[in-house]
Amino acid sequence: MSEAILEMQHIAKAFSGIYALKDAQLTLHKGSVMALVGENGAGKSTLMRILTGIYDHDGGTVLYKGQPVHFKNAMQAREAGIAIIHQEFNLFPNLTVAENIFLGDKSTQVHGLVNWAAMYRRAQELVDSIGGTFSVQEKVQALSVQNQQVVEIVKALAANAEVLIMDEPTSALPESEVQHLFHTIRGLKARGVAIVYVSHRLNEIFEICDDITVLRDGVTAFLSPVAATSQQEVVAQMIGREVAVLYPKQEAEIGGPVFEVEHLSDGATVKDLSFCVRKGEILGLYGLVGSGATECPEALFGLVGSARGTFRMDGCQIHLNSPAQAVENHIAYVPPDRHRQGIIRQLSIRFNLTLAVIRRLCRRSFVQRREEQALIDEYIGKLRIKCAADTQKVTFLSGGNQQKVVIAKWLATKPSLLILNDPTRGVDVGAKAEIYALISELACAGMAIIITSSEISEILGMSDRILVLNEGVVAREFLRGQADQKSLLSAALVRSDEPQGGDVR
Ligand SMILES: Nc1ncnc2c1ncn2[C@@H]1O[C@H](COP(=O)(O)OP(=O)(O)OP(=O)(O)O)[C@@H](O)[C@H]1O
Ligand SMILES: [Mg+2]
Repeated sequence: MSEAILEMQHIAKAFSGIYALKDAQLTLHKGSVMALVGENGAGKSTLMRILTGIYDHDGGTVLYKGQPVHFKNAMQAREAGIAIIHQEFNLFPNLTVAENIFLGDKSTQVHGLVNWAAMYRRAQELVDSIGGTFSVQEKVQALSVQNQQVVEIVKALAANAEVLIMDEPTSALPESEVQHLFHTIRGLKARGVAIVYVSHRLNEIFEICDDITVLRDGVTAFLSPVAATSQQEVVAQMIGREVAVLYPKQEAEIGGPVFEVEHLSDGATVKDLSFCVRKGEILGLYGLVGSGATECPEALFGLVGSARGTFRMDGCQIHLNSPAQAVENHIAYVPPDRHRQGIIRQLSIRFNLTLAVIRRLCRRSFVQRREEQALIDEYIGKLRIKCAADTQKVTFLSGGNQQKVVIAKWLATKPSLLILNDPTRGVDVGAKAEIYALISELACAGMAIIITSSEISEILGMSDRILVLNEGVVAREFLRGQADQKSLLSAALVRSDEPQGGDVR
């Protein structure tokens, strides 16, 4: 094998006396992809932030091209040829896509002046090259979560890096879009770029990575060529046990309709959707980008001003023009973009967990502290949120643990209708199984649940019924057990001008 381009040895890092990394090591070779995996909070992002100069380390050494290096900030690392795609988006929402891509990049400047035409052209080429379908002159805030992820990827590509770190680059991308990224990765490998690929999606790792490094509680616990190991072994190395059932869906008794929608449209992607969700039922919505599968839940939670339709909860007509109205009508929503709609990162886990139920915890204007504490402890335990204390700010949690706080916050409201829009984005395999067991329990207790996911297996594993959306309408409906990966994908891919088979609604 070629000489290592980068070696991290015995890396240690503590935050306020608590170790995030104890003895981590990572070796990268030119033109090969190293998977970096581990449970939520294992230290993956911290290790990558140390490599790129965002955090300083307390112990250990980093050798880059055989020389010890110690980058003081991300700009220094980028100039040396090490770029990172962050797990949490690092974009300026009110700047254009092109401005975000080339922010501070001197290559787009001539005598200190930005060559706008050249910058837009180059940015558009990069976006097109990985299958993006939007204009780089759009403002980032107007883009969907998936497209924002594409911008993050392009930003790193623009740096022409020799080492490229991808911290969960596909967590917001549906599986159908991932191939574009893999195509790009193969091209980069051929050019000799060394890549670190951080992901919780093991099937992606087994497709695109050459080697694998498993971090467990801040220690490198396992190293192997991908070809010499199995998904089962990797999971066992990550969490110290095997996950027997990933989707522990129990058979629930399905009752009458809880929530009914007629002729939902959002004035853009969602054209005309009518369906109902019953007591105890988990209804999966599946579709490709632009099908309406992610947009429909947003419209139902009152997040889209232009949404139209008729809604009934327990037989009574209701209005859903704002999230406040949705909450009043006992609807809870776990969003895909936790920062925009999920949590207040600068506040504590405590505050965030009780935010949506604080009224229920009050008696005559006083918060019942004991009940409040019991609720906080219950959810930190049930979802295994890894934190130093419940007073810790959410911003200091690992990505997956932040997502668990969002899920817990809404589960605590005990809604009649729970809408989960790609809920386990960035959550590790073990925690996922636990979250799904919890969701299945809630359904058994009579809750109606709508779920979307960027992973088909999640929809197949958890739904009692699946609606496949295509161009804003329901293209097909499957009952549990009737669908598989192939049938869902083909129903999602059929275009409206093609004849469709099956029971079209
Ligand atoms: N700035 C910080 N201050 C305090 N603690 C931190 C900080 N950054 C990370 N941590 C802690 O370090 C540990 C490792 O976090 P890290 O983000 O590296 O995990 P991860 O492996 O990337 O997890 P995930 O899969 O959830 O993204 C966590 O317990 C986290 O709370
Ligand atoms: Mg992380």
